[in-house]
Amino acid sequence: MTPSAPSAAPAAVSASPARIPTVRYATEADDAFVDELQAIAFGPGRFAKTAYRIRERFKIDTSLSLIAEVEGEACGSVWMTPISIGGLNGWMLGPLATHPNFRKLGAGKLLAREVTKRALARGDGQFVMLVGDRDYYCPLGWEPTTLGNIAFPGPVDPSRVLVYAEDKSLATTLSGPIAAWQE
Ligand SMILES: CC(C)(COP(=O)(O)OP(=O)(O)OC[C@H]1O[C@@H](n2cnc3c(N)ncnc32)[C@H](O)[C@@H]1OP(=O)(O)O)[C@@H](O)C(=O)NCCC(=O)NCCS
Repeated sequence: MTPSAPSAAPAAVSASPARIPTVRYATEADDAFVDELQAIAFGPGRFAKTAYRIRERFKIDTSLSLIAEVEGEACGSVWMTPISIGGLNGWMLGPLATHPNFRKLGAGKLLAREVTKRALARGDGQFVMLVGDRDYYCPLGWEPTTLGNIAFPGPVDPSRVLVYAEDKSLATTLSGPIAAWQE
């Protein structure tokens, strides 16, 4: 019997497939990429930031470090630092950065949302605090804190101190110096 001809032409392969970011956990093999990305995104001034002092003191939790990828290429990174404020455990999110060649694809927001979801799902921390732009983070669920309530080991603009928590009262009630995670 003669095989029948295919009834339809193969689907056309798009010349420019959608560049949709995905996330995965970081490994040590990502360290060089993340170093370079943070240098590009924040410049030499990053070492003088108050957030840098907090990360130096309390150390990031590398098991929560995430990498964003587009078509298999690493393009973004986020870190989390376990902390406590007023006796409640939580995390400080940052730095969050997307490589300039991959911006506006959704990688930054995906990283912020995903790392927060994964951290809070552990059940042992109650909030994710960060210092960042309200216009970027508040649509994702972060809320302004009560100005001056959270004491940093250096200067910060208190209007940029934002909190994400399932308990919506936390953003305004969280108060005290940033301290070590309490075991
Ligand atoms: C901020 C940053 C992480 C965003 O990364 P990204 O992957 O481009 O982010 P997304 O694609 O998820 O979101 C892009 C959208 O956010 C907007 N946006 C970016 N930075 C913003 C900011 N600081 N404030 C408000 N909106 C911002 C973009 O204009 C874009 O808007 P559009 O969707 O209407 O076009 C990236 O620009 C970056 O690495 N910047 C340098 C480091 C930095 O500032 N990090 C944040 C520290 S808090």
